[in-house]
This record gives sequence, C-alpha cells and structure tokens, in this order.
Amino acid sequence: MNETNPKTYRRILLKLSGEALQGERGFGLDPKVVGSIAAQVLEVHRSGVEIAIVIGGGNIFRGVKGSTEGMDRTTADYMGMLATVMNCIAMQDALEQAGGEVRVLSAIPMQELCEPYIRRKAMRHLEKGRIVIFAAGTGNPYFTTDTAAALRGMEINAEVLLKATKVDGVYDKDPMAHDDAVKFETIDFHDALTRNLKVMDATALSLAMDNALPICVFKMSEPGALKRVVDGDAVGTLVHAKS
Ligand code: GTP
Repeated sequence: MNETNPKTYRRILLKLSGEALQGERGFGLDPKVVGSIAAQVLEVHRSGVEIAIVIGGGNIFRGVKGSTEGMDRTTADYMGMLATVMNCIAMQDALEQAGGEVRVLSAIPMQELCEPYIRRKAMRHLEKGRIVIFAAGTGNPYFTTDTAAALRGMEINAEVLLKATKVDGVYDKDPMAHDDAVKFETIDFHDALTRNLKVMDATALSLAMDNALPICVFKMSEPGALKRVVDGDAVGTLVHAKS
C-alpha cells in the first residue's frame, strides 16, 4: 500500500481473461480491444504503480473444453498454455506501441520469443519500471491461469490480485440469469469458497486465501475502471482474509 493514500496499491497483479481480448469477435484477438486495455494499463503504470499481468488463453484454445471433446487433458492444457503466449505477445505489442516498456516471461521456455520465467528477473524488471507479462500459465497442466495469477501474485509480493471479468463484481447468484442477484462490496475468502461464488476456481482461491493475497473482481471494459480500482475507489468486489 501507498503511505500517502493507504487505499491505493503500489504493485498489482492484473489477471485478464483471454476472452477479454476478443471483443465482439467471438474468437481470437481484436487489436482495438487489446489497444484499449493496454491504454488503461499504461494510465495506471504512468501513475507509478508496478504492474504484472497474467492472461488466459480461452479466446484461442481452452484446455478443459478440448479434454471434454475427447483430447487428452494434459495435451489440451499444454495447447491452452501456448494460446496464452500469443495473447501475451499481442499485449506486449500493444503496450510497446503505446510507449510502454514490457518484458514477457514464459513458464515454458521459448527463448526466441520471450524470456524464461525467473522470479528474480521478474522482480528486477518491475523495480526498473517495466510492465511484466507472465506467459504459459504455471507451466503445468491441470492448473488454470487464475491459479497462475495467484501464484505469480504471491511470488512477486503483489499487494492485490485484480481479476478483470465481464461482470462488475461478485454476486450471490448469477446476475446474468437473476434480476435480484445482490453484489458484494467485500466478502471473505472462506465465504466465497463455501458459497461456491465462482470468484475463481477453488485451487486459485484457496492459494490466495492461505497466503492472504486479496482479490478484487471488477469489470475492466468500463473506461477508467482499472485506475479507479487502483485509486481505492469502491469498484467491484474485494475478496479478503477475515479481519
Ligand atoms: P536489465 O539487464 O535488468 O536492464 O534487463 P533487460 O531486459 O533490459 O536486459 P537484457 O539484456 O536481459 O534484455 C534485453 C532485451 O532482450 C529485452 O527486450 C529482453 O526482453 C530481451 N531478452 C532477454 N532475455 C531474452 C530471452 O531469453 N529470450 C528473448 N526472446 N528475449 C530476451
């Protein structure tokens, strides 16, 4: 946290879903959408916040779906990890075109494309004012990119994991299906887990809970949303340890 405003954050881990990059296309990447997300990231970065990003791959290939359609789960998950790398490279490109300095670090080494994931390198890049993007999830099958976000968030000592979603927070039931769904401003980890509120998958959520890494779930497609979250405005839902 920042000493002058204790509600603002100094180092964040931003989790973007792959679908967030596809816009209205239903598949793949929409460079305009990637560019507008990059603009929000840079706005926050220029205000002095250290930013690391984890991106999913569901806009290109989803491992779980592949396995339900007959593929070997491990193989499908590795394909999903490769899909995240494409998204990360696209985000690096958009951020750099807008003037940002970016390093992509991959959990699966592919040195012609990006650096291998080395925690100490990641920390150094952040300290030097670079935006760091973590590619290829955790590098292991059976783990989601939400789990990768929780893991990397803890490894780099992020103060918060910001999970950008299509909805503006965590609700007691699906707000798309129920008009009377009620949004939580805050909720503790235990309640989020036991009520199965689908903040993140259980592995990611328990990892964050065990290590007291708060999660803020918010809707990034609203202009300026990321800045408001980082400035400590009451945006989205904060999932936190019991006080
Ligand atoms: P510092 O030395 O800490 O300032 O970091 P740096 O990233 O600027 O220096 P480095 O010499 O490590 O990297 C220079 C450029 O090469 C950067 O754009 C890196 O992202 C890139 N780079 C470094 N290592 C690799 C790698 O293993 N593979 C690829 N593809 N690029 C790399």
